[in-house]
Amino acid sequence: DQIEKGGFDHFMLKEIHEQPDAIVDTYRGRLLPDQDIIKMGSVDNNITKFLNSKRIVIVACGTSWHAGLVGEYLFEDLARIPVEVEYASEFRYRNPVINKDDIVIAISQSGETADTLAAIKLARSKGAFVFGICNVVGSSIARETDSGAYTHAGPEIGVASTKAFTTQITVLSLIALKLGHLKGEISISDYHNYIQEMSIIPSKVEELLKIDKEVEKIAAIYKDAPNCLYLGRGYNFPVALEGALKLKEISYIHAEGYPAAEMKHGPIALIDESMPVVVIATKKGHYEKVVSNIQEIKSRKGKIIAIVTKGDTQVKAIADHVIEIPDTLEPFTPLLTTIPLQLLSYYIAVMRGCNVDQPRNLAKSVTVE
Ligand code: G6P
Repeated sequence: DQIEKGGFDHFMLKEIHEQPDAIVDTYRGRLLPDQDIIKMGSVDNNITKFLNSKRIVIVACGTSWHAGLVGEYLFEDLARIPVEVEYASEFRYRNPVINKDDIVIAISQSGETADTLAAIKLARSKGAFVFGICNVVGSSIARETDSGAYTHAGPEIGVASTKAFTTQITVLSLIALKLGHLKGEISISDYHNYIQEMSIIPSKVEELLKIDKEVEKIAAIYKDAPNCLYLGRGYNFPVALEGALKLKEISYIHAEGYPAAEMKHGPIALIDESMPVVVIATKKGHYEKVVSNIQEIKSRKGKIIAIVTKGDTQVKAIADHVIEIPDTLEPFTPLLTTIPLQLLSYYIAVMRGCNVDQPRNLAKSVTVE
């Protein structure tokens, strides 16, 4: 067991630290920065379908659904294709409207989630082209889809998904960039810049993992909090949802993720001196607006743990704690902002004596309804 964990105390921590390599494995043979191209056999072979699609519908559950939400921002922003992101469990029973020129993308780490599998079968029966993004090779979802791309993250043992999430986002980024380029929605120079930046994301994740002691100290302060709020906007809104999910899954602290601007429509009522609020406030993505959200929380005595871009001064001046992430292009920020949130939930769960790798009541793969 100790050998399998590679010197780490838990599989989850090992898998968090595997992310730079996992992303490199996902890029391998696909992202070719020397030639400025993205090569993906399964997309290239179906390129007319992708380019003619009027809409992309993403179906998934849990963390994979959060990756799908990041996909919505990526496809709309970079490739100008409208996207809907659906919980597979809702989609399958809703008599959804599916057209022949829709592309359905199913995202699943295990490739065995019952609801996602049923959603795929339904979409195919209505004539949609279904593309899978799975981690487990030869899984049911990989077999039931028309085509697909593996994430190549390697086995994920910890029930709380970490490297599967970042590699799912990696695959979605590759596809969105490729389509944006082919559709002429991205200029040649922007495309070049995106590809070059993508190629150095693993090294930025690596750099970010070095702050784990810093995150551990913050965890020690908030480990007994009964509640926690996570806020983010734009590309980082799904990251806020995922951060909250990670915390509740493994530490059993009640946590909610919210789009920062929605705070005033409800969650602000919860804020007092005992409420930690994790705010993703990176330089891109409505920074000034998020700063004013932070001020609103501070004036109600909430405690702020802010994820900021390296060199930030404005948020640093008002937040209780800041965690710096390396600067990057906006579509890639989720790949970086996710990392400290994974570490924060991990350390809080460990300090609370929870079973990090096998949290109560949860299963790694949910093969029944
Ligand atoms: C379970 C796991 C989650 C996962 C979800 C979807 O709830 O505990 O970590 O995100 O299933 O799983 P999938 O394998 O389809 O990504």
